[in-house]
Amino acid sequence: MRLQGNKIVITGATSGIGEALAKKFVELDNQVIAIGRNSEKLKSLNVHDNRIIPFCCDIAKFEDLDRLAIFIENEHSDTNILINNAGIQFNYHFAEEHHLLSKIEQEINTNFIAPLKLISILLPTLKVNDNAAIVNVTSGLGLVPKKQAPVYCGTKAGLHIFTKSLRYQLQHIKVFELISPLVDTPMTAGRGKGKISPEKLVKEFISAFKKDKFEVNIGKVKLLKLINRISPTLAESIMKNIAEK
Ligand SMILES: NC(=O)c1ccc[n+]([C@@H]2O[C@H](COP(=O)([O-])OP(=O)(O)OC[C@H]3O[C@@H](n4cnc5c(N)ncnc54)[C@H](OP(=O)(O)O)[C@@H]3O)[C@@H](O)[C@H]2O)c1
Repeated sequence: MRLQGNKIVITGATSGIGEALAKKFVELDNQVIAIGRNSEKLKSLNVHDNRIIPFCCDIAKFEDLDRLAIFIENEHSDTNILINNAGIQFNYHFAEEHHLLSKIEQEINTNFIAPLKLISILLPTLKVNDNAAIVNVTSGLGLVPKKQAPVYCGTKAGLHIFTKSLRYQLQHIKVFELISPLVDTPMTAGRGKGKISPEKLVKEFISAFKKDKFEVNIGKVKLLKLINRISPTLAESIMKNIAEK
């Protein structure tokens, strides 16, 4: 992939991994359409750099995705990269949670359905532009789950398999998967040990992205995959109670 001169839609660009990706891509001389729900956080992103174009949008809402589609078609038809990064994680016991139905819906809509809808909305635009790519952000928890977040793990596993299959289908558009380990962001505040910084993750990702390594295993995900190949039982016992405290 060429690393400069792109126009990149990044969902969840107001925090954690998405914000670090947005800042790095701008530093590399790209334009970024930054998506998030919080308009104040979005505005603060482009105060110092007008190469960040904020767009307030809840990707879990159909009408917001519609507005985004029109915005891209009318004003940013040169968009050539989509990074599906936005995600939420609820930690709870499936049999004991009082707001189970709404939590199931929110997590599946945000983490799985929205990325697929965004891909479908942006495909016509990506198809006609050079250096086109889709990047889906998944997790080591989509390979080997933990106990506390069954729906989250399910959405990441779904996105992992979807991404592989989509890669087989698309010719002109490169399909990447960023498989993240535990990263120090608001999502993991107050839990987990041995977290890496979002900046470290982005550095590793950019190096793989440049070399067209489509499945990008960041940090400890490489070790997790190796252990899972040798002994799935060991991998499961390591991951089962991970990041609970
Ligand atoms: N942190 C980790 O250890 C880790 C590990 C593996 C994978 N991941 C994945 O990495 C991605 C980023 O996670 P993070 O740790 O950086 O999380 P984070 O700091 O909590 O940031 C999440 C971002 O997503 C946005 N977002 C959430 N729901 C949205 C919605 N419905 N519409 C639009 N934007 C929405 C949030 O912005 P607003 O709230 O302003 O909308 C925020 O910018 C997620 O997909 C996560 O599953 C993270």
